[in-house]
Amino acid sequence: MHKPKPNPVRIIKNLIILTGCVAAFFWMFFDILKRETVVSHDASVLVMGTNATFKPFEYKEGGQVVGFDVDLAREIAKELGAELKIEDMSFDGLLPALEGGRIDIAVAGMSVTEERAKNALFSEPYYQATQRIIVPEDSKIFNKSGLIGKKIGVQLGTTGDILASEIKGAKVIQFPAAPNVLRELASGRVDAVILDDAPATQYITAFTGLKVLSLPIGNESYAIAMKKSNHTLKEKIDQTINHMKEDGRMDALLRKYFGENR
Ligand code: ARG
Repeated sequence: MHKPKPNPVRIIKNLIILTGCVAAFFWMFFDILKRETVVSHDASVLVMGTNATFKPFEYKEGGQVVGFDVDLAREIAKELGAELKIEDMSFDGLLPALEGGRIDIAVAGMSVTEERAKNALFSEPYYQATQRIIVPEDSKIFNKSGLIGKKIGVQLGTTGDILASEIKGAKVIQFPAAPNVLRELASGRVDAVILDDAPATQYITAFTGLKVLSLPIGNESYAIAMKKSNHTLKEKIDQTINHMKEDGRMDALLRKYFGENR
C-alpha cells in the first residue's frame, strides 16, 4: 500500500490550526467563567453596595454600617463561603456601581421596578414596602392629590423621587439621604416628603410635629440587585432567601428590626 509521505508544511499548518482552536476554547471557557463566577472579582469576597441612611435596613452605628440588609447579606455571604465587604455610597450610584463591577450586590431596601430590571438582575423579593406621604401635623395635605403644585422632598433616585416627579405642578427637591429630607420638612423648606414606610416611621421620631399619612401611595417589593449577567449568583441568593423564609431566619430578622408585633 502506498503511504502518503508526511508533508512538513501541512503538519505545521495543522499544528497552527490546532493550537489556535485550543487557545480559542480556553479563552472562551475562561471568559464564561469570569462572567458566571459567583462574585465578579475575588470569589472569597462578596462586595455589598448600600446607602446607609435608611433605618432599619441600613444605617450607621458607631461608624459601622448595620441593619436588616447587612444581616441578610451576611447570611448570603456565609452560604457562599465568602467574606462580606460593605461599600457605603449614594443611592443613585448603586446601579452604576453594579454595572461597573465595583460591587457584586446592591442591598439597600431597593424596590424592584421595570426600569431598573432592564439593567440589573433582581433576587426574590424579601420585604413588602409602601410609599408614604409625610407632612407637618397641621398640614392641609391629606392624600396624594393634596400634593399637586406643592414642594416635595425626596431622596435622590428613589421610587419616592419617581412618584413625586409624576405629580402635576409639584416642585421636587432631591436630597442625598432620607433623614435630611425629613429635616427639610421639619424646618418648613418643603411641604411634604415621600418616603418608604419603615424608614419614615423610624426617622420621624427624631422630629416633633411631623406625621406619616396612613394611606399608602404605592406598593413595592425590596430585592437584592445584581449585575444583569450574574445568573449563577442570583440562583444562589434566591436559594438562600427561600431557605431563610422557610427555616424562620427571615422571621427572626423581621422581629429583630421591627419588634414582635409587626
Ligand atoms: N425603596 C426605595 C427605592 O428603591 C428607596 C430605597 C432607598 N434606600 C436607601 N438605602 N437609601 O427607590
